[in-house]
Formats: sequence, C-alpha cells, structure tokens
Amino acid sequence: MNDVLYFNGRFTTTAERVLGVEDRGFQFGDAVYEVFKFLDKRPTFLLDHYQRMERGLREIEIASPWDEVRFAAVMRELIDRTAFAEGIVYIQVSRGEGERTHFYPDGMAPTVVAYSRVFRFPDAAKKERGIRAITTPDLRWKQCHVKSVNLLANALAKKRAQRAGADEALLLGDGFVREGGSSSFFVVKGGRVITHPLDEHILPGVVRDHVIALALSAKIRVDERPLREDELFHLDEAFITSTTQGVMPVAEIDERVIGNGRRGEVTSTLQQLFDQLESRQIADVAAAD
Ligand code: PDD
Repeated sequence: MNDVLYFNGRFTTTAERVLGVEDRGFQFGDAVYEVFKFLDKRPTFLLDHYQRMERGLREIEIASPWDEVRFAAVMRELIDRTAFAEGIVYIQVSRGEGERTHFYPDGMAPTVVAYSRVFRFPDAAKKERGIRAITTPDLRWKQCHVKSVNLLANALAKKRAQRAGADEALLLGDGFVREGGSSSFFVVKGGRVITHPLDEHILPGVVRDHVIALALSAKIRVDERPLREDELFHLDEAFITSTTQGVMPVAEIDERVIGNGRRGEVTSTLQQLFDQLESRQIADVAAAD
C-alpha cells in the first residue's frame, strides 16, 4: 500500500517520485526533519515538534515554509487522509533544489515533504523487558542540537549495535555519554535522574523535556550534567526516551546487566507518567476538535 505524501503544498502518495536529484537534502544533507507520533488519529506533542523544527531551520538559515497554524493544518490533513489510526509522520524540509554547488544561493524555495507510516510501538512486555545497548564513539558533526538529516554516523552506530545483538548505541565523546543513536539517554543513581544537559552534543528530545518535567513534578531530583563513561559501571537504572519508544528501560550496556536487569522503580514511574501525559494530550486534542 502506498502512504499518503505531502509535497510542496499538495497531497499525493509515496508512489509518486517527487524529489529531484539536485535537491540539497539528497546531495548535501542540507535539511532538517521531524518525526512525530499519532494515536487514535491525533498527533502527539505537535507544537513541540514544530518549534524544534523552526529552531533548526533558523540555525541553518532555511526559510520556514509555514507558520504554526498552517503546519498543524497540513499535519492534521495528512493524518485524516491516512488509512490507519496510529503511526508516525516523517517531515523533512530541505533548502531546496538547484544546480549542485556548495555556494548555495540565498532565498531558495525549500522542499517540503511529509508522509505517514505505520509503526509498531513497543507493547507492554517490551516496555517492561527493555532493550540492550552498546557504547560506541560519537562520530557525528558538532551541532547535534540541530535535527539535520546527516544521520550517517547514527546509522553506522546503530548498525553496529544491531550486529552486537543490541537495539541502541550509546554515543561516547570526550569521555562522556552523550545520547543514543536515535534517543535521549538517562540514568538513575541513588534515586536521582541524570541526563546530559542541553547543548550542541545532544538533540533536545521532545520526550526528554516532558520526562524531566514529570520527574520534577513527582519530586524526583534531576541532574542535567554530562555522565562520565566510567559512571556507566555504577548505575541503579538506565533508560532511553524517544518519540517512537517513549520511556524504554535499558537492561544491559555492553553486555553488563544494569541493576537487577529488570525495569527499575524510577524508570517504571516515569514510564507510567509519560504514558498518562501522552493519553491526556490526545484527549485534549480530541476535545478541541
Ligand atoms: N529520533 N536523540 C537523537 C539523536 C534522536 O534521533 C532522537 C529521535 C532523540 C529523541 O527525540 P524525541 O524525543 O524528540 O523523539 C534523541 C527520531 C525519533 C528518529 O530519528 O527517528
């Protein structure tokens, strides 16, 4: 089945080949992207994704193709046209298409692509069991707060994880644990949650932000500081967060079992709080319809 595709102001399907070979997203990775989840035909945390994309576009000097209202309208129509009730939407905005040159002209017309996809979100058993992770050097560029489509280093790291029988690669730089190949990373030590601070070494994860706020409201201390590699040996709990995985326990890192190998208490609390927040948010969107 072909998926619904939005391309530069019109709807079509992924059966149509829309991109030119000289699109700068294709040739230079000159583009930003977002992935958001929808459930029950309703988008989750849409405004957060819009705002992060806008910040990314500004950082790399691509003109925004839409304001918040237009963005929301396009995404809602995309979901409405989609045959299934839950999945993800991938959005990419590139600088545009033009003769290949490093010296891009000012004021190019951005290429906008968005499409929906079926996605199997983790079930209760998986959310309890958690995942395995490996560590690997962070080979990404130095502006990781921009959600650019330059994902080669992430893809290589995650492939390495897969070959080692793991699901996620934790990226190490300058002796610190940055984040996952496609997720934010948290640990729990002595009842405190620790996660990397927002800077150019990590993506400001949408779920990360909500989980920190939820932890604070539940009176769980959160230290936003870089975690040293050697601290990975002394953890009570670890988990990753992302749009597709929510709050997901990490049971093993480099084949060492974390805690007792089962979902920890703090992880479990935050997982529940996040799932509730997501459900409330969908109910709010539904109520506003
Ligand atoms: N990835 N860090 C990186 C490097 C990521 O690629 C992602 C998400 C996250 C988590 O961000 P969020 O909570 O906003 O999903 C952190 C998306 C889902 C992807 O590339 O598919």
